[in-house]
Amino acid sequence: MNIILLGPPGAGKGTQASRLQDERGMVQLSTGDMLRAAVKDGTPVGLKAKAIMEAGELVSDEIVSGIIGEALDKLSPETGVIFDGYPRTAAQAESLDAILAARGRKLDHVIELAVDEEALVERITGRFTCGNCGEGYHDTFKQPKQAGVCDACGSTEFKRRPDDNEETVRTRMTEYRAKTAPILPIYKSRHLLKKVDGMAAIDVVTSQIETILG
Ligand code: AP5
Ligand code: MG
Repeated sequence: MNIILLGPPGAGKGTQASRLQDERGMVQLSTGDMLRAAVKDGTPVGLKAKAIMEAGELVSDEIVSGIIGEALDKLSPETGVIFDGYPRTAAQAESLDAILAARGRKLDHVIELAVDEEALVERITGRFTCGNCGEGYHDTFKQPKQAGVCDACGSTEFKRRPDDNEETVRTRMTEYRAKTAPILPIYKSRHLLKKVDGMAAIDVVTSQIETILG
């Protein structure tokens, strides 16, 4: 199964994708995570992407479609994929069709996490992750069970994203409205689009998605 999780910054794409990965043996392909890894490693892609990401703007379609193709080539054809944060423009949606077709894959569902944008600023500015394993947390909505210790791996190192400040979040939302939201009708016309209530509690959102996937 190949699915897309679509929604604005902070909608919960990463949170839900990592749950599906753990529960269903699918693989999460997050272009945001891949680009952050490239920035950290100082690769040519990372050098191009760093300032763009810090400004909350979109990295070029060629770069992100390139890294998605490469990531798919590392997976066996039977492995299901959750696209998290890709596609984000009409050109990327078109590239994804070609990328999947070339690998004998097809798109099964596009799941829109519908959210109230104002609530997202709080979600994003309160977000942090484990510096070792990447498990996601939130100052208000999801604290580690034991303060200062990661539930998943026991690490005591946590980090915050450089683009998780209010000003950059507003730019990311403007980019979403202008360039990403317009691809929803494309998937609707293909009868692939399913909407879930992304404002519900994390577990409730997961069950809504499970119902769609069957
Ligand atoms: P990316 O990393 O994809 O960031 P984003 O789309 O802005 O989305 P986020 O990761 O911020 O949010 P999310 O939906 O994953 O939410 P999360 O689950 O963490 O992209 C970053 C940058 O990379 C872009 O700005 C761009 O520059 C570049 N880029 C990436 N892909 C690109 C592409 N395809 N094309 C061009 N450029 C690209 O949840 C947020 C917080 O809320 C967490 O703390 C979580 O615990 C909490 N939370 C989640 N769900 C709930 C809930 N239901 N209730 C309460 N709290 C919740
Ligand atoms: Mg994310």
